[in-house]
Parts: sequence; C-alpha cells; structure tokens
Amino acid sequence: MKLLVCGAAGFIGSTFVELRVREHGDEVTVLDALTYAGRQENLEAVQAEIRFMAGAIEDPAAVAGAIGDAEAIVNFAAETHVDRSIADPYAFSVTNGLGTHVLLEAARERGLRYVQVSTDEVYGSIETGSFTESSPLAPSSPYSASKTGGDLLVSSYFHTYGLPTNICRGSNNYGPRQYPEKLIPLMVLNALAGDHLPVYGDGRQVRNWLYVEDFGRGIGHVLEHGVPGETYNCGGPDECENIEVVQRILTLTGGDESQIEYVTDRPGHDRRYSLSCAKLEALGWSARTRFDDGLGRTVDWYRENSAWWEPIRSGAYREYYERHYGRALR
Ligand code: NAD
Ligand code: TYD
Repeated sequence: MKLLVCGAAGFIGSTFVELRVREHGDEVTVLDALTYAGRQENLEAVQAEIRFMAGAIEDPAAVAGAIGDAEAIVNFAAETHVDRSIADPYAFSVTNGLGTHVLLEAARERGLRYVQVSTDEVYGSIETGSFTESSPLAPSSPYSASKTGGDLLVSSYFHTYGLPTNICRGSNNYGPRQYPEKLIPLMVLNALAGDHLPVYGDGRQVRNWLYVEDFGRGIGHVLEHGVPGETYNCGGPDECENIEVVQRILTLTGGDESQIEYVTDRPGHDRRYSLSCAKLEALGWSARTRFDDGLGRTVDWYRENSAWWEPIRSGAYREYYERHYGRALR
C-alpha cells in the first residue's frame, strides 16, 4: 500500500513505519514537523526505503507537497503530553484539531482512505469496568479534549462526505524510543542515573499498558480490515497502578526504593483508564506482549541505547524537567 504517515518521527509512528515496511512492503512517505518529540533518526532502520518530508500537518501546502500518489493517510502527528497541555494548551488545539482538519480536507479532495490514531483518554476516567467504542466522550485535559476534537472531525467527514475513515484509540504505550517525559522512560532513566522518581499524588492511578509494536500492528489491522466509519479500541493486556510500575522498574534497574519521591499531583489527574478491545479482537487483532515481558525489553533497550537518550537529557529537556519538577537532573 502507498501511505502518507504523519508524525512518524515520534515514538509510535516510527514503530508503525518499521512494521509496515518490513512486514508488508508498504511504500511510505513520512510528513513530520520535527518538534521536540520528533527525530529523523527514529526512522534510521528504514531510512533508505521511505521518503521523509519535514512539515506541519496544519500547513496545507506541506500536506499537498507530501501526499504524492498515496492511497491512504495514517495520522500520528500530535502534541501528546498531558503535563505540557496543562502548561501550554494552545499548541494542542493547533496540531490535534486544525492539523487533523487539514489532513481530512486533503483526503477528501483525493478520495483517500484515512486512519486517525487516537487515545483512550477521550473517554475520560473510569473507576471500574472498561470503555467500549460507544462509551460517551468525556475528556478532562487540554490534550484529551484536543484529541477528542480531532476524532469528532474525523467522524463528521465520514458522515457528511462519505470519506472512508477509521479511528483507532490506543491505551498507554511503552517501548523503545519513547520520549523521557512519559512515565516509563522517565522512571527508567532516572532510576539508572540514581535520580529521584517523581510519583504524582498517591501513585494509585491505573493505566492499561500496551507494548508499542502491538499498537502498531493494531493500527495496521484497522487500516487493512476496518469497516469505514468505525472506531476501534486497542488496549493492552495488563493494568497496573503507577506505584507498581515504578517498583518494577526499580527491580529491573537495580535502583533503590529511597529514590521514590511523592510529588504534587497533576491538576485534573484521571484516576483510571481501561479499554475493552473486543471489537478489534473480533476483527482478528490481539496483543502479543504481556507487561512483564515488554517492560523488561524496554528497560534493556534504554540501558543499551544511551546514544539515543543522552542528547535529550543534556539539552532543552533539562530545562523542561527543572521547570516542571522544580529540581535538576543529575
Ligand atoms: P510523540 O510525541 O512521540 O510523537 C509525535 C510526533 O508528531 C513527533 O514526531 C512530532 O514531531 C510530530 N508532530 C507534532 N506536531 C506536529 C505537527 N504540527 N505536524 C507534523 N508533525 C507533528 O507521540 P507518540 O507517543 O508517538 O503518539 C503518536 C500518536 O498516538 C498521537 O496521536 C497520540 O495522541 C497517540 N497515542 C499515544 C499514546 C501513548 O501512550 N504515547 C497512546 C495512545 C494514543
Ligand atoms: P504519562 O506517561 O504522562 O501518560 P498519561 O498521562 O497520558 O496517562 O503518565 C502516566 C501516569 O503516570 C499518569 O497517571 C501520570 C503518572 N506520572 C507520574 O506519577 N509521574 C511522572 O513524572 C509522570 C510523567 C507521570
């Protein structure tokens, strides 16, 4: 398949592109604005086989220049970090809302298939049970609200123009190349460096962990088999409280419990996310990686790839960290 994949210099998009090139022989063009979270080297393994274009999805000229003879658009491009959305929300509306809209227009003009990569956070928090695709949308952060806006635009293009769209909503991902502002890579790198491990609030919030390759394959499955207009949840096989995640990381890294530090909670912090993925499983997808196994592999990857994360921990990220956590990294 000929694909335009937006936002693939980031964590999940780069994994998706590797899988599509290696396992399906897809012809891929990547469009990515290379924000702090995007690095061309994330696509190193397939760089000879893909076309890379630097540009923003909210820029119609950049999108027109990248689209070529693509048969489908898969959109990963987004501002993705909840804490940043609390500090600087406007960028989230531009990329996640307007950017999605520009891509939908480009797809409509050419009659292309369109897959939007979305998140469980659009449903908000759930105390017990799991969200299905027909659960009400109740986002609580500027991040999740802007992703919900994007999803609603996607649905409107199916209903109004008959555009063959799908939405694939993932739960919390983890794995190699995730930017170390997110819980798992942050805790792994801090544990390895002997830094403190900042746990928000009581640490009893629950997330539904999905290994990044499982999400990549889930999105590919929706691209190939999804019924136009439908949304598919793609959740991980294991749920875990944050404090337990941190304790497992300490065990895997040989860190010390005294590194854990409870810090001020995130404003509006969602307590629990949980997805039912029966609909995507009925279509033939299932998660292959259990949390224990994937977490071990992830810790090993960060241990063995300091060349990937050292430039991040020594650059602008340090300033972000200091501003956000009120203390310096080692
Ligand atoms: P990421 O932050 O690692 O990467 C985002 C990518 O988008 C970067 O390469 C960045 O340069 C690019 N980008 C940002 N703004 C852009 C713009 N205006 N135009 C073009 N490119 C732009 O994100 P990720 O974790 O890989 O997430 C990818 C997608 O998956 C997002 O849509 C996110 O909402 C969704 N998602 C993420 C998770 C998770 O746990 N990380 C879970 C479910 C869904
Ligand atoms: P995060 O990785 O930011 O993903 P999301 O907010 O999209 O679920 O955070 C995962 C969980 O970990 C969330 O409950 C917030 C918590 N957390 C901490 O306790 N400390 C931290 O330093 C970070 C970044 C997150």
